Amino acid sequence: MRVLITGITGFAGSHLAEYCLARGDVEVFGTARWRSRMDNVQHFLDQITLIDCDLKDSVAVRHCLTEVRPDYIFHLAAQSFVPTSWKAPVETMTTNVVGQINIFEGMRELKLDSRVQLACSSEEYGMVYEDEIPIKETNPLRPLSPYGVSKVAQDLLGYQYHESYGLFTVRTRGFNHTGPRRGDVFVSSNFSRQIALIEKGKQEPVVKVGNLDARRDFTDVRDMIRGYWIALEKGEPGDVYNIGSGTDVTIRTMLDMLLEVSSIDIEVRQDPDRMRPSDVEVLRADNSKFCNLTGWKPEIPLEKTLEDLLNYWRERV
Ligand code: GDD
Repeated sequence: MRVLITGITGFAGSHLAEYCLARGDVEVFGTARWRSRMDNVQHFLDQITLIDCDLKDSVAVRHCLTEVRPDYIFHLAAQSFVPTSWKAPVETMTTNVVGQINIFEGMRELKLDSRVQLACSSEEYGMVYEDEIPIKETNPLRPLSPYGVSKVAQDLLGYQYHESYGLFTVRTRGFNHTGPRRGDVFVSSNFSRQIALIEKGKQEPVVKVGNLDARRDFTDVRDMIRGYWIALEKGEPGDVYNIGSGTDVTIRTMLDMLLEVSSIDIEVRQDPDRMRPSDVEVLRADNSKFCNLTGWKPEIPLEKTLEDLLNYWRERV
């Protein structure tokens, strides 16, 4: 079986590549750009095939699909950081939306019948009312950032290309996921890195934070990417599935859990630059549609995920 992972050098992409390699029945290909960092994939680089491909370039995408002719495509490459999407909305839309159209159109042209998983996002739900929690797939989409809007577009394009042309798309709305290799701009990783720096005496004992009242549904990245695989094996073509733990914690609680792992006395200080023009206040998945269909359930508790993440940074700062 031939698998193509867009964004293989990234956080989820590198974990998914390892999962595929461990299966033993998969040949792994992945897209990377000439300036992509290789840290996440360095230790298994000799077992995968990297293809130089910026998804914004339709010619490059067509070459890539011609070379790989994948059975499964996991489309993970994206501008995935919400705050950047306010500063660079055009880049966010182009990378996320045009990039995906290039994949779809390339598949049509080459008459590929690959199964495609689309990494959509819980950020699509955006503004959610208390009586809508836990959030079902049928909830209205009220995105609160350009990033959220770009993911709505990706999601609905997945639906539309299935309906119009019969492409085998499965849309996964991933809730927050974290673990080792998480980019240091994202909250759990950013806090872990700061704590690791403080432990080493490289930062004053103050953790800078943004909105601690937001609530998020965290899943370990290793459970999440297993979900992506299962989605393509067992998901209905054209359909959409929430993937998340089904529980939520405030960002404050998540920080407290990290601080508990560390023995140092640390002050928590709000940094106005970390506040967003509009933040999504609460995200908690109703994961029953996906769990009932596929039998997937999260296996790694948040405590273990956060400990692994902090240890990851302790080895790097
Ligand atoms: N990044 C960051 N840094 N977030 C902070 C901080 C901070 O210092 N302090 C508080 N927060 C709050 C944010 O305001 C937000 O409410 C929450 O922590 C999570 O922020 P992020 O880790 O940046 O993730 P996100 O929820 O905005 O988006 C992530 O999850 C989506 C799925 O719901 C990203 O991974 C997206 O790509 C993904 O689609």
